[in-house]
Amino acid sequence: MSKPKVMLACQDVSIRYMVGDFKAIGLKEWVMRRLTGNYKVVDFWADRHVSFKLRQGDMLGIIGTNGAGKSTLLKAISGIMEPTKGRIVRRGNVSALLELASGFDGDLTVKENAYLRGAMLGYTRAFMDETYPYIIDFSELKAFEDSPFKQLSSGMKSRLAFAIASLVKPEILILDEVLSVGDGAFKAKSEAKMREIITGGATTILVSHSIAQVRKMCNKILWLDKGRQIAFTDDVEGACDCYEAFLRAPAGTEPKFDPDKIAAKRAAAKAEAERQAAERRRQEEERRRKAAEAATELARLRAEAAKLEKVRRILKGSGK
Ligand SMILES: Nc1ncnc2c1ncn2[C@@H]1O[C@H](COP(=O)(O)OP(=O)(O)O)[C@@H](O)[C@H]1O
Ligand SMILES: [Mg+2]
Repeated sequence: MSKPKVMLACQDVSIRYMVGDFKAIGLKEWVMRRLTGNYKVVDFWADRHVSFKLRQGDMLGIIGTNGAGKSTLLKAISGIMEPTKGRIVRRGNVSALLELASGFDGDLTVKENAYLRGAMLGYTRAFMDETYPYIIDFSELKAFEDSPFKQLSSGMKSRLAFAIASLVKPEILILDEVLSVGDGAFKAKSEAKMREIITGGATTILVSHSIAQVRKMCNKILWLDKGRQIAFTDDVEGACDCYEAFLRAPAGTEPKFDPDKIAAKRAAAKAEAERQAAERRRQEEERRRKAAEAATELARLRAEAAKLEKVRRILKGSGK
């Protein structure tokens, strides 16, 4: 069987931010500082040499502490910014849910915002007419459709954003820390929706605070730390185990993806579990054997007693 087609490829992607005073100072001051050598711009690489490939139906979890470069990478993947170095190849339309309220207009109504977002994602009015009822229904905001967006709670905003991003049938869906908001019921509903999207053949990227959710949903992991790629792997459990061990480790510990060590640990745990199961089986066997023995002994005693009783009766009879 041939593998599903590659939908997204990041090839040695590095992304730089220019950090400095160039934005705030204005042209005249800029010229002055350049001339006097007081102009300082610092390069800051938010992502360095990131490479991975996703196939149709993959669900990638990106893990890493704050400032790891996750959101920056997602911006480049969704096309909001260009990588400074390297290449990103996309196949299919990308629907990204980055920052919750971004791309919404506070003064427009919920309905107007849904259409606006749809238009920004490149969908036609006819498509949005068809899709809007599902969006408003899924986000449970029917009662608010004519209210200004700014009046919504942040949970409501995220519900709307998720409903739009997921119901427009994207081929690549990007979710940056958006599933942890909302109540339990909506979380379950959005997870189910995501599974449906994945089953439908979409490729999904998920950044979540919840490692449990990543373990549950993803089949590949990209681990970033301070912009560096620590791992890209389909050993989801191994990567999450290493990451959680890193989070528990004392400050200054280097992040390390050591699948062999993890595999050895897991093999040892499995062997131990098997040994315990065998021991339980042996004890059970022993118990059964003893019970059988006791039953045999009981039967023997009963037979003995019956015999004695018979003898007693005979003796009694002959004694008459
Ligand atoms: N617009 C920006 N200008 C300068 N630095 C930024 C900008 N956006 C993010 N950064 C920096 O880039 C690093 C990575 O940020 P980000 O991609 O948001 O990480 P994450 O999403 O993993 O927390 C952080 O150190 C952050 O401070
Ligand atoms: Mg982020």
